[in-house]
Amino acid sequence: MRHQNIVILTGAGISAESGLSTFREEGGLWDRHRIEDVATPEGFVRDPDLVHEFYSTRRRQLKTASPNPAHIALGRLQREHGGQVSIVTQNVDDLHERGGASDVIHMHGELKKLRCGACHRVHVWDGVCATDTPCPACHAKALRPHVVWFGEMPFDMDRIMALLADCDLFMSIGTSGQVYPAAGFVSEVRQIGHAHTVEINLEPSDGASLFAERRHGPAGTLVPAYVEEILKGEPS
Ligand code: APR
Repeated sequence: MRHQNIVILTGAGISAESGLSTFREEGGLWDRHRIEDVATPEGFVRDPDLVHEFYSTRRRQLKTASPNPAHIALGRLQREHGGQVSIVTQNVDDLHERGGASDVIHMHGELKKLRCGACHRVHVWDGVCATDTPCPACHAKALRPHVVWFGEMPFDMDRIMALLADCDLFMSIGTSGQVYPAAGFVSEVRQIGHAHTVEINLEPSDGASLFAERRHGPAGTLVPAYVEEILKGEPS
């Protein structure tokens, strides 16, 4: 086994072949919605029902989406590799888990969770939510998506930085490399110096030149092939 500690960062591109929109491509979510209206704390204060509708619609779309071969291949890598295989995702969908992955780190939160602004409990939720939906625990009408908005701190950063410090293979899949801190992970790994770095993306990301190896094309094809190579112990 060539790699003992693998860290895999994923972005919206890994779920594109499952039919979920990415953000910054033609026709993507940020073409159809203003970030300041639906993905900032200020937007939520200004019009909470608009924000709830945006996330309720994405939750509904998730019901008809299925994990694609890329999600399934990463679940297989975790099960069969024998070393530590950590998945850190910027995605709020649950397709990694439904594709067989476990202990996925959702640094931008999860679509199928809500957080109460009054009692701070986090609830699993796969239906619609609105401003007058009461918290199941304290009944306050103060629920919000358990998603990280622009200007908010991502989750689990200490754990993620520790994984990056220890990894000997860092893979970035399906992300444009435009949003920090995730876009800076490859530089963190390069500074520490002993990991191989691979980008798998439909096209070169903003950080493509920082990766030792780049494979450009659809994740649904490239990820299963790369996982096969890793499991066979082929050089990379
Ligand atoms: N296979 C591989 N890569 C793909 C595919 C595919 N089938 N389809 C699209 N891509 C690539 C695109 O080329 C693009 O580089 O996925 C990337 C998606 O980039 P973005 O839309 O910017 O999504 P992401 O990088 O995940 O955004 C990061 O920004 O808005 C915030 O919180 C949001 O988590 C998100 C973060």
